Amino acid sequence: MVKKIYINAFEMNCVGHIAHGLWRHPENQRHRYTDLNYWVELAQLLENGKFDALFLADVVGIYDVYKQSRDTAVREAVQIPVNDPFMLVSAMAYVTKHLAFAVTFSTTYEHPYGHARRMSTLDHLTKGRIAWNVVTSHLPSADKNFGIKKILEHDERYDMADEYLEVCYKLWEGSWEDNAVIRDIDNNIL
Ligand SMILES: Cc1cc2nc3c(=O)[nH]c(=O)nc-3n(C[C@H](O)[C@H](O)[C@H](O)COP(=O)(O)O)c2cc1C
Repeated sequence: MVKKIYINAFEMNCVGHIAHGLWRHPENQRHRYTDLNYWVELAQLLENGKFDALFLADVVGIYDVYKQSRDTAVREAVQIPVNDPFMLVSAMAYVTKHLAFAVTFSTTYEHPYGHARRMSTLDHLTKGRIAWNVVTSHLPSADKNFGIKKILEHDERYDMADEYLEVCYKLWEGSWEDNAVIRDIDNNIL
């Protein structure tokens, strides 16, 4: 049997993702991460290069363990500053046909309803080319950003994640029946 290989690019909406310091390269373009053209160009490059998907990592806190300080991360752009990955997807989907988008989102901080709604919206707009990298977040600094005073331990985060996924599945699979929309203009029933 012929095995199919899926090729996936690994990116993040920031200057320095995992190849720290690469932003100093003479041909570096990472300072353009706030420019939508940068992401559109990337999507087109990946699509033309036959990539299957773009995986967008994300963190909602800062790395502050090294020397018990955030200084190094801030100075050297170690995943900071970092912008929301979801905002990039519509534009990249618009200029591509086959490329899929896997977006990272944490189950720890925001209510499932808003997330389920955003994912459904992108599911429609991308024509099904959206996926979710489910994370629980491992940075205590993220807890602080969301006003959580007690650091959430591993098992507690994963219990919350189980419930989060259950709620999301119920919202996605149980909110609307298939063929619920009939567009009956004469009887004013959508
Ligand atoms: C390929 C890969 C990508 C990951 N991307 C993210 C990410 O974007 N954001 C994040 O918070 N964690 C990310 N993680 C971390 C995991 O979500 C997880 O927290 C980590 O593997 C530690 O496991 P634990 O949560 O069970 O301690 C990634 C892990 C791997 C292996």
